Amino acid sequence: MTRQPLTDRFGRPIRDLRISVTDRCNFRCSYCMPKEVFGDDYAFLPKSELLTFEEIHRLTRLFADAGVKKIRLTGGEPLMRRGLPELVERILSVGGIEDIGLTTNGLLLGAHAQPLYDAGLRRLNISLDALDPVISGELNGRGVDPSRILKQIDYAKDVGFEIKVNMVVKKGVNDSEILPMTAYFKKRGITLRFIEFMDVGNDNGWSFKDVVTKKEIFDRLSDVYDLEPVGQDYYGEVAKRYRHKDHGAEIGFITSVSESFCSTCTRARLSSDGKLITCLFAEGGFDLRGLIRDGATDKELMAAIAGVWENRADRYSDERTEQTARNRKKIGMSYIGG
Ligand code: GTP
Ligand code: 5AD
Ligand code: SF4
Ligand code: SF4
Repeated sequence: MTRQPLTDRFGRPIRDLRISVTDRCNFRCSYCMPKEVFGDDYAFLPKSELLTFEEIHRLTRLFADAGVKKIRLTGGEPLMRRGLPELVERILSVGGIEDIGLTTNGLLLGAHAQPLYDAGLRRLNISLDALDPVISGELNGRGVDPSRILKQIDYAKDVGFEIKVNMVVKKGVNDSEILPMTAYFKKRGITLRFIEFMDVGNDNGWSFKDVVTKKEIFDRLSDVYDLEPVGQDYYGEVAKRYRHKDHGAEIGFITSVSESFCSTCTRARLSSDGKLITCLFAEGGFDLRGLIRDGATDKELMAAIAGVWENRADRYSDERTEQTARNRKKIGMSYIGG
């Protein structure tokens, strides 16, 4: 039974749910969890505060009834949560869920790719910002050599996954890697997506001048490659996609800064401790875990979800200025998983 999806104050339907399964990560990317802030004494959530798989399953069922068709598992680093294949199976058993993907830094795929595939997961988005070991090691904050991630990408491809690589581009830091990354992934037929550096959280020191826009990247690529646009896969797709004319491989752009896409944003987010968040740049969320653990019925939970979504008026990226970037108190990226 799926009824009409809930819609928000701008008429945007709820279609996607991004579920963060942990706030922990084995990386310290400077644009997300800078190591100066997320140090050894950083207080991550205790296990008792994380939603259990039963709770996530129950909420997924309710969100599917509300209109959600697509699930994305995120973190922190989702592969740090134990037993993830079981969660994938549970989510895929929910009627109305048509698609599930996972966003990861890839380092732990060696142990997890096959069990996740066996559980029914088919799509992985893997983050990698440079092929150069110094630039990459610096950006991931842990000195992890990119060759280790490239190996996992090849492995996951062999297992059978459809893979996209996410590259966050920061001016003067890794824009020199745009062409080498494009050449590398074109050769392998893997989609590479350039993500404009965003002012997520309060700690990443963002400024407009650090952003390399889609237009700048596209111009640089056009000097070398012949690219043609590809139509949208689905309403509200985040990436703008292009295809190499001489080759099937695609590239994509996530243009939250230069061409915001709030008007078609159909994404809800669930933090690992059960807060329902209506925008990546929100100041807070609605505590669904509290309701669940107080014994709320499905009907009461559904009423709460509907109340939040129907009241939603977020369009942060449409409104972004240097001031909002600096002054607005935003939830951390690692807490809601992008
Ligand atoms: P698929 O299209 O299903 O492959 O996934 P996706 O691109 O939506 O997910 P992914 O986790 O790979 O996210 C890629 C980038 O898009 C990340 O930097 C996210 O933070 C960003 N992103 C995803 N959704 C939104 C959104 O609603 N608003 C903004 N501003 N950025 C988003
Ligand atoms: N700006 C843009 N993208 C970011 N990500 C993390 N932090 C930022 C940021 N400040 C990306 C990661 C990952 C995805 C979930 O979000 O690289 O690919
Ligand atoms: Fe971890 Fe991903 Fe954030 Fe990097 S971007 S610190 S890999 S959660
Ligand atoms: Fe959606 Fe907020 Fe991103 Fe706009 S900024 S696309 S409303 S998550």
